[in-house]
Amino acid sequence: MQFNEDDPAFWERCYEEGEPGWDAGGPVPPLVRVARDRELLAGVEQVAFVGSGPGHDALDWARAGYHVMGFDFAAPAVRAANERARAAGLGERCRFQRADLFELGEPYAGVFDAVVEYTCFCAIHPERRGEYREVVERILRPGGLLVGLWFPASDPGENGPPYRVRREDVSRLFLRGRGAFELVHEEQPPDSIPRRLGRERLMILRKPLR
Ligand SMILES: C[S@@+](CC[C@H](N)C(=O)[O-])C[C@H]1O[C@@H](n2cnc3c(N)ncnc32)[C@H](O)[C@@H]1O
Repeated sequence: MQFNEDDPAFWERCYEEGEPGWDAGGPVPPLVRVARDRELLAGVEQVAFVGSGPGHDALDWARAGYHVMGFDFAAPAVRAANERARAAGLGERCRFQRADLFELGEPYAGVFDAVVEYTCFCAIHPERRGEYREVVERILRPGGLLVGLWFPASDPGENGPPYRVRREDVSRLFLRGRGAFELVHEEQPPDSIPRRLGRERLMILRKPLR
């Protein structure tokens, strides 16, 4: 099947064919760690995961005490993630919904204290990055956090999968101009899963209060 990142059928096929290459098989250590950093995440209760996929990280945040909503437009991923939540007894605290993130509209405006990004931004076409920012801005409350574990962020020269994410891309999109977010934390995680070690950048950004 030809790659078309805007077509849920492409992603659904990947899930139907078996465990997709991006599935880490469990929550990734940098996000496990951030979820439990109550100082960094002070005031965070309602959390959205965009492009939540198998849902391992979202489930772990629910386990850490947050109310979590995962959004993904691939039906098999959403089904499996909801089953995992139920099996873990987290169905009340963690729900997954089939939705195109670009269509998250009014019902979600200002609802979330934090949005978590992991390997979703690299899956959308670079021409849609402005729209991605608009969605994040829309669903975050004023002062809310974008917790981005940006991958693949090795600089320079690495492409995919499928699109490269340079620090400069994140910075240009969120940290400049009118309505710029504030960078509240940045690091190269020492505890990334082995195959992504040195290729991820954790950047936590705060939406302005107004
Ligand atoms: C590379 S996978 C990563 C999944 C998950 N974040 C993880 O770490 O395992 C990208 C995910 O984003 C989803 N996705 C891509 N574009 C989307 C969109 N416009 N709306 C909702 N989900 C989208 C895909 O269905 C896929 O599950």
